[in-house]
Amino acid sequence: MQKKLLAISTSPRTHGNSDSAVDLLIDAVGSHFSVEKVSLKSVPFSACCGCGFCEKEGECIQKDGFIPLMEKLISCDVLVFASPVYALSVCAQAKAVIDRCQALWARKYLLKTIANMPDKRGIFIATAGQTYPEVFDHTVPVARFLFDVSGVRNANMQYVLLKGLDKKQDFSKSDEAKEAVLQAAAELVKNMDG
Ligand SMILES: Cc1cc2nc3c(=O)[nH]c(=O)nc-3n(C[C@H](O)[C@H](O)[C@H](O)COP(=O)(O)O)c2cc1C
Repeated sequence: MQKKLLAISTSPRTHGNSDSAVDLLIDAVGSHFSVEKVSLKSVPFSACCGCGFCEKEGECIQKDGFIPLMEKLISCDVLVFASPVYALSVCAQAKAVIDRCQALWARKYLLKTIANMPDKRGIFIATAGQTYPEVFDHTVPVARFLFDVSGVRNANMQYVLLKGLDKKQDFSKSDEAKEAVLQAAAELVKNMDG
């Protein structure tokens, strides 16, 4: 059976830089996986309400569109998560996903009921308008939280950090950025085969 790749594209800008990077990655690896891309704009869900229910029960009290997404996130073999850099961090939509994964954090670290989570690979794609060296410094640790609670060990992580992409079409015009995505795709396939 083909391995499952779940790609979550969180930018509110459809066909923008991070979304286009996801699409290119999927084009490059699609034949190796059963692929599902979720554009977060199409998922009706609320931000974490901080009620603490998940810390007791291991599940979220809010039964909205996030629940099926979390099930997919748990069961996939490869998790691709893409966000633009907004105000130094991931965008609010991406952060809302990560916060709602507090239920997974609770299962792993408080309740210790997450033993069945399959070991998976992860790819974090981020795009930033600016080019200074530290531009992703506040983004990567936030994304790491999601990958950690989703069953992606550090050694199984890939990062595609694309800077200097500001206008909507900048990714499509950048051979360097596209090459970085294609390299990540090749590495993923190599690692899955190996
Ligand atoms: C609200 C907002 C905040 C942003 N903050 C930053 C920032 O702190 N640093 C940066 O380099 N770019 C910043 N940008 C630029 C985006 O990171 C850049 O345009 C990115 O490529 C957008 O990706 P997308 O097309 O996938 O949405 C910001 C853009 C917006 C709309």
